[in-house]
Amino acid sequence: MSNAAPILSLRGVTRRFGGLVAVRDVDLDVVPGTIHGLIGPNGAGKSTAFDLVSGVTPVSAGTIRFDGRDVTHLPVHMRVEAGICRTFQTPRLFEAMTVLETVLTGRHRHARCGFLGSMFSLGAKARDEAQQTEVALRLLALVGLDGEADTTVSGLSYGARRKLEIARALATEPRLLLLDEVASGLNPVETEFVAGIIRRLAAEGMTIVLVEHDMRFIMGLCERVTVLNFGARIADGPPVSVTGDEAVIEAYLGRPRTDATPRREARRQHG
Ligand SMILES: Nc1ncnc2c1ncn2[C@@H]1O[C@H](COP(=O)(O)OP(=O)(O)O)[C@@H](O)[C@H]1O
Ligand SMILES: [Mg+2]
Repeated sequence: MSNAAPILSLRGVTRRFGGLVAVRDVDLDVVPGTIHGLIGPNGAGKSTAFDLVSGVTPVSAGTIRFDGRDVTHLPVHMRVEAGICRTFQTPRLFEAMTVLETVLTGRHRHARCGFLGSMFSLGAKARDEAQQTEVALRLLALVGLDGEADTTVSGLSYGARRKLEIARALATEPRLLLLDEVASGLNPVETEFVAGIIRRLAAEGMTIVLVEHDMRFIMGLCERVTVLNFGARIADGPPVSVTGDEAVIEAYLGRPRTDATPRREARRQHG
């Protein structure tokens, strides 16, 4: 682990829905350039945490800092401009758009070409439409959808929709990318492909927070993992220390470790 100042920092973050506390007093630090896992059983508050960081939902209490700046009360578009972008657990795409148009919607505010520029060897700026299209096509190639540029979203498979959501998020040139169950519903080949994209983005310096139920996916990618249960953080650390943690095992299995419940059952519970 590096000692770099966290790029994302949550302190005492809480979100209530009426009497329900979906996220409870959560502290979280994400080191820049790392892949950080956010896991926990169904209903633990993972997607709500992403809603809070991305600005989709306001906090009930606490502070969110991104890159040293307090973003707690910024609207979504200003957080996107600051470099925070997320995907949704259920892809939110416009059925009537083409694949290329979808990615271009991610670019309308953004002619930065920061990491994309270096990744794709583009010039310092990509301002005009032809260049925007070029960027979008390269993003489609990155996620394996370059043959589908003119396909309408309604004609896409589930796996292709997931990949398109990633491409659209990348089009905003995030420095922090929040991926909510991006591998769910993908077959093993697609899952490995998406893992490869995530590794490549992290190698380019992007910071990624992953919410995922597939433990092998998380353990194979993440340098650090935070575990939520009933909205509260119950563990945080390198994957090996977290999976051996008594409270985590209990949260996943619903009973103490001494009970010889097979891991398979844990997966079924939160899958
Ligand atoms: N908009 C909402 N209104 C009311 N309750 C919500 C809302 N969003 C989430 N919740 C509740 O908050 C809890 C956490 O949900 P969520 O963040 O989706 O969990 P996870 O992503 O970990 O499965 C759940 O009990 C869920 O029903
Ligand atoms: Mg969720």
